[in-house]
Amino acid sequence: MAHLPNSPTAKPNHSSVWVAFVLLGISAINTQAKIAITVPQQVSLSANFSTQQLSISWLGGEATTFDLIILRTEFNETVFYDTVSAVLNQDGGQHQWTWTSVEPLECTSLSVKVRSREGKTISEWSEPQILEGRDLPSNSVQSMFPQDRTVPVGANTTFCCIVQEGKDFKSILYGITVMNVKRLSRRSYATTAVNQNISGNSGTNVVCLSNNPSSLTGTVIFVGCKRCVCVD
Ligand SMILES: *[C@@H]1O[C@H](CO)[C@@H](O)[C@H](O)[C@H]1NC(C)=O
Ligand SMILES: *[C@@H]1O[C@H](CO)[C@@H](O)[C@H](O)[C@H]1NC(C)=O
Ligand SMILES: *[C@@H]1O[C@H](CO)[C@@H](O)[C@H](O)[C@H]1NC(C)=O
Ligand SMILES: *[C@@H]1O[C@H](CO)[C@@H](O)[C@H](O)[C@H]1NC(C)=O
Repeated sequence: MAHLPNSPTAKPNHSSVWVAFVLLGISAINTQAKIAITVPQQVSLSANFSTQQLSISWLGGEATTFDLIILRTEFNETVFYDTVSAVLNQDGGQHQWTWTSVEPLECTSLSVKVRSREGKTISEWSEPQILEGRDLPSNSVQSMFPQDRTVPVGANTTFCCIVQEGKDFKSILYGITVMNVKRLSRRSYATTAVNQNISGNSGTNVVCLSNNPSSLTGTVIFVGCKRCVCVD
């Protein structure tokens, strides 16, 4: 290292010593904050496909608030991001948060990450946990979700169509109405029927069309009642 005889740091005056102590103090505080906040461990997912609820649990160390992010894995598109005060499970330090998806959970794969937060101090994100959708290449058939759902009059229901591998999506029909769609992944397309009217005994057909006429797929939604005599 070069020797600098007239270096300004060679003879520290009182003010530079004071500055050095202050800087040392600040760095000590920062180090402590980083040590206290840990990356959430053992993040695990549990899905209820009929209620479209995804239950996320993890071990959080000392932290009491957490950032949760849920992304559509294929398009890396954020579907949920929030800071939550997760409840502690009775059985040993596990935090838990339940999220209800607008789309059926089968529609496309979801990635979930959690990080700890104390005020402005945040940890790294946990490794992503993936809930696999039914649109993976290994599942090449065309399909539609949800299947045979019953909802009350006035409800909104989001449907998705996963087109057959190698085929092109054309449209989703709700009864005889051509619906607006949103693409969720390479093969998955969703639509929402809002304020649904009563459907009668046989339900309302929701059909997905692709450029392969033989792979027409559908589902039935029962609005108001299911396999019962509706009173108009
Ligand atoms: C999903 O939730 C419903 C309603 O809370 C419950 O009856 C059902 O047992 C749950 N299914 C699973 C697989 O946990
Ligand atoms: C995915 O999205 C997140 C959050 O929006 C972003 O931070 C990240 O860089 C994205 N990753 C890729 C591979 O695009
Ligand atoms: C259905 O969606 C419409 C439009 O987004 C909204 O105004 C309405 O409150 C929703 N209905 C229910 C039951 O959630
Ligand atoms: C709902 O369905 C009933 C019975 O089929 C019909 O008379 C009514 O016009 C429908 N309402 C709307 C808003 O489509």
